Amino acid sequence: MTAERQLIVRGGRVIDPASGTDALLDVRVVDGRIAEVGAALSNATAEVIDATGLVVSPGFVDLHVHLREPGQEHKETIASGARAAARGGFTTICAMPNTLPAMDTAATIDAVVQRARNADCRVLPIGAVTVGRRGQELTELASLRDAGAVAVSDDGDAVADNAIARRAYEYLADLDLPLAEHCEDPGLSQSGVMHEGAVSARLGLRGQPAQAELAIVQRDIALADAAGAQFHGCHISTEAALAAIGDARARGLRVTAEVTPHHLFLSHDAVAGDSAELLYDTNAKVNPPLRTDADIEACIAALAAGVVQAVATDHAPHAAVDKCCEFDRAAFGISGLESAWPVVNTLVSRGRLSLADAIERMTIGPVRAWNLDTGDLRGLGSLGVGAPADITLLATDASFTVDPEQWESAGKNTPLAGHLLTGAVAATISQGRIVWDGRESA
Ligand code: DOR
Repeated sequence: MTAERQLIVRGGRVIDPASGTDALLDVRVVDGRIAEVGAALSNATAEVIDATGLVVSPGFVDLHVHLREPGQEHKETIASGARAAARGGFTTICAMPNTLPAMDTAATIDAVVQRARNADCRVLPIGAVTVGRRGQELTELASLRDAGAVAVSDDGDAVADNAIARRAYEYLADLDLPLAEHCEDPGLSQSGVMHEGAVSARLGLRGQPAQAELAIVQRDIALADAAGAQFHGCHISTEAALAAIGDARARGLRVTAEVTPHHLFLSHDAVAGDSAELLYDTNAKVNPPLRTDADIEACIAALAAGVVQAVATDHAPHAAVDKCCEFDRAAFGISGLESAWPVVNTLVSRGRLSLADAIERMTIGPVRAWNLDTGDLRGLGSLGVGAPADITLLATDASFTVDPEQWESAGKNTPLAGHLLTGAVAATISQGRIVWDGRESA
């Protein structure tokens, strides 16, 4: 008989939104699962992690991450993306299928699952909606699900063709999988490289209007409703689209949504940057684009109200050459796993969001949005007894300046470099294993 592997996280403020717990408690882990949560647990045989002064949260769950493997390993690999996740406090990440080739068959999904087996966090694959993400022909949605896909998406692009989107929702209703839609009508966004507004006009850059997002959100609410399927709005960024999602949810429709840390924190002003030499900052080029102050306020309000169930990073790592170029030619995307918690916690420290709600939207909120806590993943996103021992320790008062050169991600592309933020991930435990320990520096 092999000895049990025990760990005790001692003396932290345990916040577990799934059960409403907020108290100074210990957490016992046995063989990779939560065994007990209580006061002054005995530790005769266990390794002890001192969490005094730290918040003890369930491990964070990210519904939206771009790992670049297969095909663009110079931007990120599954291993480096998982290390970045661990450092960012994430213990489960969902991998978008816009790899090369796209994750559009059971075999490509399975390859990612196998490659992720020993990674520093759990990687759940998302399958493509259309073959090659070309928007013309549906994938074998049932076989993607059977291979482990937890949702389907052509993210990077919307499923633009109305008839194909309609058919996808009809199949997905039977399969009980969400369609995670990139809400951008290409007929309206044209080739806009930033938000259409005062800043795009001043910089002379082509803008994409807010209505490009609203058009697909309204269409997908209608199509999902008619089919009895679930529409999940990826990286929702505009006030109008959030209002449409709020209305649909109030009518009881199967509609869920996520917002990104960058859309909660930065406006299109960030595109203009603050450099004396450069007119713009390509690290602020992202799709959907950074919007107006009113849109930021709407994102925060929708998150606080629960209209939006998840903070998702849309972690989109790129190589330096993809960003060191003209704005038009630069890649869309922000590397986000290692700044997500500091951004969200900074909003908490400014009184914009409660700490419990912030943690909820990064743990059980996303898990419930996609029904992830089934089978082996029962209890995911919580610290309930029997749940996977995924635990994140947070130093909520630590202030630091963002320096992507310190990150694990190969993608250093962030418009937050040099920003002073409050909140650090002190340590991350994934399935009972300590995968990040930054307690010295937190
Ligand atoms: O900015 C973005 N980058 N938006 C997307 O939808 C795709 C992503 C990427 O894959 O780089």
